[in-house]
Amino acid sequence: MHLTCTSNLNDEPTALVFFVNGKKVSIENPDPKVTLIQYLRRNLYLTGTKEACSQGACGACTVMLSYYNHHQKKIIHYSGNACLTLICSLHGMSVTTVEGVGSTRNGLHPIQRNMMENHGIQCGFCTPGMVMTMYTLFRNNPEPSQEDMERALEGNLCRCTGYRPILEAFKKSCPCGLGLCQQSAEEKKEIADKKAGEKPSPDKYDKTQDVIFPSELQKSLEYSQRDVMFVGGGYKWLRPVSLIKLLELRAKFPNSTIIMGSQTSVGSKIRNNTLPSPEIICCTQVLELRRIVEEKNGITVGSAVTFAQLEEYLRGNLKETKGRDCNVASALLEGLRWIGADQQRNVATLGGHLMSVGQHDLQTFMLTVGAELNFISPKTKSKRVAYEKFMTNGVHAPDPSDILVSVYIPLNKQNEYMMFTKQPSRRGMDWAVVNSGLYVKVNDKKHIEALRFCVGNMENKPCIIEKVSTTAKGRSLDETWIPDASDAIIDQLKGCKTDALQYKISLACGFFYKLYKQILETIKPENGKNNFGLTPSLSSGAQYYDVPNPEAKEIVWKPIPHAAGKSLASGEAIFIDDMPQYTNELSMWFVTSAKAHAKIVSVDTSAALAVPGVVDYVDRRDVPGSNLFGPLYHDIPLFANKEVSYHGQPIGGVIAETREIARAAAKLVKVEYEDLPTIFTIDEAIEKKSMIEYVANHTNGDVEKGLNEAEMTLEGVIETGAQEHMYLEPIAALVVPKIEDKEIEVFINTQEAKGVQADVGQFLGIPYNRVTVRVKRIGGSFGGKALDTITASGTAAVAAWKVNRPVRLIYTRTHDVKTTCKRHPTKTFYKAGFSKDGRVTALSVDMFINAGWNSRTTVKVMELGMIAMESTFDIPNYRGTGRVCLTNLPSNGAFRGFGAPQGTFIIQSIMYDIAKKIGMPNDKLREMNIYKEGDRNIHGMVLKDFNLPICWEECKKQIKFEEVSKEIEEFNSKNQYRKRGLAMSSAVMSIGYPMLFICQAGAFVNIYTDGSVLVSHGGIELGQGLFTKMIQVAATVLEIPVEKVYISETNTVTVPNTTETGGSFVTDLNGGAVMNACQILKDRLQPLRDAMPEASWEQLIQAAYFSRISLSATGFYKSREKGYDFKKQGEGEYCNYNSYGAACTVVEIDCLTGEHQILRADIVFDVGKSLNPAIDVGQIEGGYVQGTGLMTLEKVVFDKDSGEVTSYGPGNYKVPGIRNIPKEFNVTLLKEAKGENRPLYSSKGIGEPPLLLAAGVHLALREAVNAARKEQGHNENYRLECPATPEKILMGCDGPIKKKVNTIEENNQNFFSPSFLILQGHNLFLQKNFKMSLYDGLDIDKEEGGSTKPVVAGWSSNYKLLQSQLQAKKASSSQSRKSPKGLYKKSNDSELYFNQITGRIERSPRMPANLGSSPFIPSEPVPSLTGVADEYDPLRPNDYEDFVKKRKEQRMKEREEDMRKRDNDEDRHSRRRRDRDRDRDRDRDRDRDDYNRRGGGEMERAQRRRDEEEEDDYQKPMKPGGGAAIAPPSSLIEEDQVSNDMGGSPIMPNRSGSPPMGYSIGLGGSVASKIMAKYGYKEGQGLGKSEQGMSTALFVEKTSKRGGKIIHEKDLPKIVEPPSREPASNTNLMKNPSKVVLLRNMVGPGEVDKDLEPETAEECSKYGRVIKCVIFEIPNGEDDEAVRIFVEFERVDSAIKAIIDLNGRFFGGRVVKACFYNLDRFRRLDLGGELDS
Ligand SMILES: Cc1cc2nc3c(=O)[nH]c(=O)nc-3n(C[C@H](O)[C@H](O)[C@H](O)COP(=O)(O)OP(=O)(O)OC[C@H]3O[C@@H](n4cnc5c(N)ncnc54)[C@H](O)[C@@H]3O)c2cc1C
Ligand code: FES
Ligand code: FES
Repeated sequence: MHLTCTSNLNDEPTALVFFVNGKKVSIENPDPKVTLIQYLRRNLYLTGTKEACSQGACGACTVMLSYYNHHQKKIIHYSGNACLTLICSLHGMSVTTVEGVGSTRNGLHPIQRNMMENHGIQCGFCTPGMVMTMYTLFRNNPEPSQEDMERALEGNLCRCTGYRPILEAFKKSCPCGLGLCQQSAEEKKEIADKKAGEKPSPDKYDKTQDVIFPSELQKSLEYSQRDVMFVGGGYKWLRPVSLIKLLELRAKFPNSTIIMGSQTSVGSKIRNNTLPSPEIICCTQVLELRRIVEEKNGITVGSAVTFAQLEEYLRGNLKETKGRDCNVASALLEGLRWIGADQQRNVATLGGHLMSVGQHDLQTFMLTVGAELNFISPKTKSKRVAYEKFMTNGVHAPDPSDILVSVYIPLNKQNEYMMFTKQPSRRGMDWAVVNSGLYVKVNDKKHIEALRFCVGNMENKPCIIEKVSTTAKGRSLDETWIPDASDAIIDQLKGCKTDALQYKISLACGFFYKLYKQILETIKPENGKNNFGLTPSLSSGAQYYDVPNPEAKEIVWKPIPHAAGKSLASGEAIFIDDMPQYTNELSMWFVTSAKAHAKIVSVDTSAALAVPGVVDYVDRRDVPGSNLFGPLYHDIPLFANKEVSYHGQPIGGVIAETREIARAAAKLVKVEYEDLPTIFTIDEAIEKKSMIEYVANHTNGDVEKGLNEAEMTLEGVIETGAQEHMYLEPIAALVVPKIEDKEIEVFINTQEAKGVQADVGQFLGIPYNRVTVRVKRIGGSFGGKALDTITASGTAAVAAWKVNRPVRLIYTRTHDVKTTCKRHPTKTFYKAGFSKDGRVTALSVDMFINAGWNSRTTVKVMELGMIAMESTFDIPNYRGTGRVCLTNLPSNGAFRGFGAPQGTFIIQSIMYDIAKKIGMPNDKLREMNIYKEGDRNIHGMVLKDFNLPICWEECKKQIKFEEVSKEIEEFNSKNQYRKRGLAMSSAVMSIGYPMLFICQAGAFVNIYTDGSVLVSHGGIELGQGLFTKMIQVAATVLEIPVEKVYISETNTVTVPNTTETGGSFVTDLNGGAVMNACQILKDRLQPLRDAMPEASWEQLIQAAYFSRISLSATGFYKSREKGYDFKKQGEGEYCNYNSYGAACTVVEIDCLTGEHQILRADIVFDVGKSLNPAIDVGQIEGGYVQGTGLMTLEKVVFDKDSGEVTSYGPGNYKVPGIRNIPKEFNVTLLKEAKGENRPLYSSKGIGEPPLLLAAGVHLALREAVNAARKEQGHNENYRLECPATPEKILMGCDGPIKKKVNTIEENNQNFFSPSFLILQGHNLFLQKNFKMSLYDGLDIDKEEGGSTKPVVAGWSSNYKLLQSQLQAKKASSSQSRKSPKGLYKKSNDSELYFNQITGRIERSPRMPANLGSSPFIPSEPVPSLTGVADEYDPLRPNDYEDFVKKRKEQRMKEREEDMRKRDNDEDRHSRRRRDRDRDRDRDRDRDRDDYNRRGGGEMERAQRRRDEEEEDDYQKPMKPGGGAAIAPPSSLIEEDQVSNDMGGSPIMPNRSGSPPMGYSIGLGGSVASKIMAKYGYKEGQGLGKSEQGMSTALFVEKTSKRGGKIIHEKDLPKIVEPPSREPASNTNLMKNPSKVVLLRNMVGPGEVDKDLEPETAEECSKYGRVIKCVIFEIPNGEDDEAVRIFVEFERVDSAIKAIIDLNGRFFGGRVVKACFYNLDRFRRLDLGGELDS
């Protein structure tokens, strides 16, 4: 074929042409900012390709890119990240997405089917990316080896499955159907043996199913051989095909930007519109830059050659790579191998890599090898620059206009050797911590002629260690001088300004040692070979469970695939961002705090509002209801008030036409702050006494005595770090307001549908029945999509309400990680007493937990952590305390295990420490102390069916523990640089909540006339297989095939009042409810079935329909009758049952780099009789792998100044990848587990417990590190930090290098990378200055026969000290931190809110202040921005100043017009108000006369008598299972402590201030409607009945501002501290509830008038006789706390009635808070004014 080269760069712009799934796409004016993923999802509606990180680091967006290579005459396919690919780079290419591979309609591809059938799908968000990666591999190589598959999957992350089943699915897609293709004969035999009896998958890869490459691209040279120019989005994209043209363009546009693969900052600059000039020159098609030329002594590689091409060339073409170790080519291959993953290597170019700013791997390589760079520029001729010289200029071209044409790489001559290596934090797709290259030239095989050792990533460029070169010159070729070389390396690097200096220098020294020795081995093979690095191995695994009888009619217990597997594998499954757009839909983006703790001085939104496409701005002033929410207390602002408490806190939000405009405009909002002091770590919080007052206390026996009497004692500190959920689907919300009756529909990926419904209702001030929450599925959650989704749905709802249009809010990965909760870090001080033979007799633990800025769920997490500590071992004397630290970080929250992983890790580590102390095998020590069947544990549970010892024994047997132990010992003795460790671990986790009110679930089952069944229930599918299990339950009860049953979504309309999905209990709860509903239906159908036994299911249903039998039923399930109260330790039932498991883990570490691998993990788990063994195995594998992340890789890093999370995406926060899973992973579901009589087909909950077993990974690593240390003469027990990163392992291993680097001073300020601190107890900047131990200075390590000093005296005095410090904190008025219900908060919202409701401040022009009219009827049209949009591209800042000015003027005019309109309105309003007041007074007089005439007084007396009679009922003890209760819920008691009084009462604690369960928000007859009647409103006037109370109440609020009694601070009497008195505890109040009721948030600030006291007293008299009513208004008090109304009743029961009726009631858009108030305090109040405790 003749190749022509034509140009149209000076002509008209070209249309961009590419193909997607075989269909041609042509775009006239393509915008270079647009990425492929945006185009696929938003323009082509191909939403199968998922966007999880937008950083190229997770692989969820993987697509196959193909082009025709006209030179090679072949189609090239490669995988790429659609999130990084700019559409303009696709000209002439073909894109295949998951939709093009297979579909449910036209048939799934074998890979897709195998993913489903092999259970490789859980949440399914990663699945399309996985499918595309493997599909591309198979297209290029139909018989890939397992190594090929693992390598291909390095670029794809999955947070759910643990990868094993995914790999299995791909192996099965091989032509042989078993994954045996391309394996060596040996491997084939081994695998075949393991798979003996297994049938090959029928779904093999078949080429005929592939998408056909477009012939147009194959035939035409037009696309690849022709210069092109695209003009669009304010840019010119120029793509020349020759060097001459490139130079011409460069001359014409000297500021233009060169791009290649566009994977680095240049890509993000284009996407974010921050390039210096609009011309982009894409060089990927310039022929001269795409060549590899073989020269005499080397190769010249064009700068546009991709890594993948270079690798292919080196492997295939270069003779030098073959048959010789330690040559340049193999070193380069090693360098290329570990850069990113395939998706990056396929597009990243050598030129782009070397010209990128910052440290890159091959820079060190080029320096070592002595490469030369060929540059050219329009001004100068071409020039060749030595890489070393280039680097001295920094990583930039010598001249800014220079273009890198090619790189000359010299290849070794005889007697030259080279090696390259790098150490990442995670093996597979990770950047180097340090990389190194070593070049050695020898003269006569005896002496070193020249040596160059280069190290990268120490500072901003790689360096040559000159001193090593000089030391080496002339030395004989042996090891004798290695110590001198190490000294030289340390000497040169010790001044580097970098973090983790000691570690990096140790790595550099280790690299030198390893590389030099390997070169020596090559030169002198006769000297033998050392084994460096980890033992190479590939992954395998086995799963053992009882295979159910395939003939059995029950569908439960069978391993059926994921119910939505087909849709997920084909990309058809819909997540929130996949939902089609509403035509009038808008996007919202946050304005967040840039400070960790500060006052907001001002917020200027003018620049943002001026951007075309921006529709509005929302903040706290726009929240129509309450701006506060929270699970226990309403103390979390939806939008920040006057203060921000963590970096990333939402302050406001910009609403715009697109998400890009909203995000860009939000950056323009200027917020001024005044800094306040910050606290980040537990140490700081302890030091500054920033803790809530509640202290959890669990005791058993007498710990002081136990410790005193113990033969030996040991103390220590154990820390656990934070963990980011990193679910693949970021938080997303779509809120759709309805025109009618203030309904609002919320689509949100939440675990907490009920919570979202309640909180959205309260934010908007509308009843819950107007809020519909819909959740189809969630792309992973792990506890992270609970409270944080309330922020998302709440802010989007307020925005949608304000603009009256649907609003979508999709978190970016960065925002999600930076602002949402993490797993709580903990720090625990312990002291243990034990006998010499290993019996632990006493244990005292003091746990501190980092809550973040608000302790929303922390108390519960801490308590569960403490329970986990107590659940495994029988320790007769135990005392545990837990304290909650408040810091300025995002509030931490639920994460798989909810405290149990921390508790388990702590107790397992303590046991390990004790075993080491007495020199006993740690498995033996634990076996000796584990509880026994029938024991009663510390929270009073009798351990019946205690399967833990069985799992433990089974696991040991499975792995052949003793044998493996010996093998490891032997291995360690033979290997100097690799060590192995082995450890057992166990998991005990309570299933079923202590609080009974959340142990309930509902279901709704419909049968349709075709026999199909629709099941709805309250659980949410987050990947845990819940829907599949529920379908199995329904099908089993109804005795129909699973195909007949379908679950569409979770929806608050079909099943209300759902319990949050979590706690591994959701299957039990909802399964119970589904079973119940199905059983009801089955019973109903039974008579018909008896009458027509032969009828099919469909016939039966038809008959039922014609017989008028209802075919729908609701089901309900509640578990056990007794709850648990942490205050009454040991009473009640803490949970339903325990889940048990044991694991044995074998690890290997590299003592020169600190890297590790898990060689083997065997798990035996008790899941009862598994409902679905395949799903349960998946949960176990996934949980364990997630736990290994917590133990080894995952490090949350914060900037120590601003508190910003800097590990904000999968690129810099390492979750386990395919290379990090156990190489052999065996899972067994305990057979014939005891305890078969559990309600849901004898199954047990699963999901969280397996994660606990990963503690064993850490223990095994400790064993390995201890083995390495032993060799260095250290026999003491090493306390390895958690996570055990390569850094921690290497620094633990010790050795000669470590001893040398130990003397180097660490740089705690960071120069090279941003300053950071790791969010775990250990932190870099505090550790040096601050040390705290409760046991400091005590005689702790009481050795055998040692001191007889009373240890406990010292310990307890320290403990008391801490207690007194806490008390001092309580007393101190100067303390700034508050407990959740601590000191009175100053007002933030009140003024504004008051102004808003009184009309002083304008609401949004489209948001009527009067809720009486529908907020969804736009009162004025949305201002048109179309004209402006044409003039100005909002994302391009060029004409920005002018533009803003113009827009400001326009806005000003609009505002003036608006004000004029409002003034007129105001006149009208005041006239109306005057008239209304007059009418109201008249009506009131008339009503009063009327009332007296009708004998009202007598009616009142009769009511009182009835009340008194009823009082006796309240005194009666509660009947189990229902009836009225005397015990009020704990949230109804005003006290500073966090209450746990949640069990036992059928009245539920009030979540989010919602009405107590069982009481509806009936507004008719309420206080509000009485007031309404009093002010002359008639029932039903102009409104729906249920609305009138609310609207009237609002009216009352508005008009009750009559300048009444406002008490000013100066007028308040001084508070005299009363003589010491017993503080009232919750328990006291529970036993003896007060007669005083405190009402808050009934009226707003400034609305107190002289009539309010008598009016309230009168209103409250309906509950019983009122003694008095006192009202205080706190000047500047916070809105919902500002006015406090105290009502003293004559009798307690009246107070109870009042609370039950009033608490949570909507009252004029406010949610009233009613609770008991301490009688003593009320008396003091009565004296004149104590406002709070
Ligand atoms: C997920 C991910 C993981 C990664 N992992 C690693 C890793 O482990 N190790 C590592 O070292 N790197 C890693 N990288 C970085 C990767 O190697 C670089 O992104 C890539 O090498 C840049 O090449 P490019 O072709 O995309 O360059 P581009 O992004 O197109 O260009 C980079 C820069 O070079 C300039 N430039 C490009 N070509 C020329 C030229 N011919 N003349 C003058 N200037 C030019 C551009 O103007 C731009 O400033 C990773 C990147 C990603 C996205
Ligand atoms: S979304 Fe593209 S790699 Fe994560
Ligand atoms: S299934 Fe892989 S991320 Fe959920």
